Amino acid sequence: MPKPTRRSPLRPSSARSSARLVVLVSGSGTNLQALLDATADPSYGASVVAVGADRDGIEGLARAERAGISTFVHRVRDFGTREDWDVAVTDSCRSFEPDLVVSAGFMKLAGAAFLESYGGRYVNTHPALLPSFPGMHGAADALEHGVKLAGATLFVVDAGVDTGPIVAQSAVPVEDDDTVETLHERIKVAERQMLVDAVGRMAREGFTIDGRRVRFGP
Ligand code: GRF
Repeated sequence: MPKPTRRSPLRPSSARSSARLVVLVSGSGTNLQALLDATADPSYGASVVAVGADRDGIEGLARAERAGISTFVHRVRDFGTREDWDVAVTDSCRSFEPDLVVSAGFMKLAGAAFLESYGGRYVNTHPALLPSFPGMHGAADALEHGVKLAGATLFVVDAGVDTGPIVAQSAVPVEDDDTVETLHERIKVAERQMLVDAVGRMAREGFTIDGRRVRFGP
């Protein structure tokens, strides 16, 4: 049975001047920085209202702090269960009233509580052309497989691992002398542009999810 069309939860620009983004990070935060740079222009249509992380002392948090943006950190090991951690992340996100939550290098899977609140408006960027090479090592797995085109995918997170409906993709060539590092760096250049372009369109135009198809627009 086909899944029903889900309408974008983002409010039309006439109702709210700027969509509110919470960005989740676990590392260097170059994708976050690309969003921060884009949102400096009011015509982008979105602003980062908070940055969350699952660990301390990462450059992603430092980027947020330098930009004067609120941060929160929840480490899994500080909670009795993974479900409790998931509820804490959900509650912290909720306190910032996001229209869209963006996982930009956040190395944790969302749990049931999080998806209950943010399903359909939680997107993740992955360094491979899904559905090929899901999981933690997208760029390395693509190189190992010998593909000639690699890339990045922005998708709406569902309960699976990198299985949700695809919002945008960007491809890059794999060079003969690539290492995992050189390939991942080339992917990340394309990934940042894809992320900025797609999140901006989601914010400005809205989007619909129709089964596996995501379309921009009302
Ligand atoms: C990105 O390639 C993302 O897709 C992957 O980890 C990388 C994060 O990079 N999950 P950064 O922290 O945004 O620099």
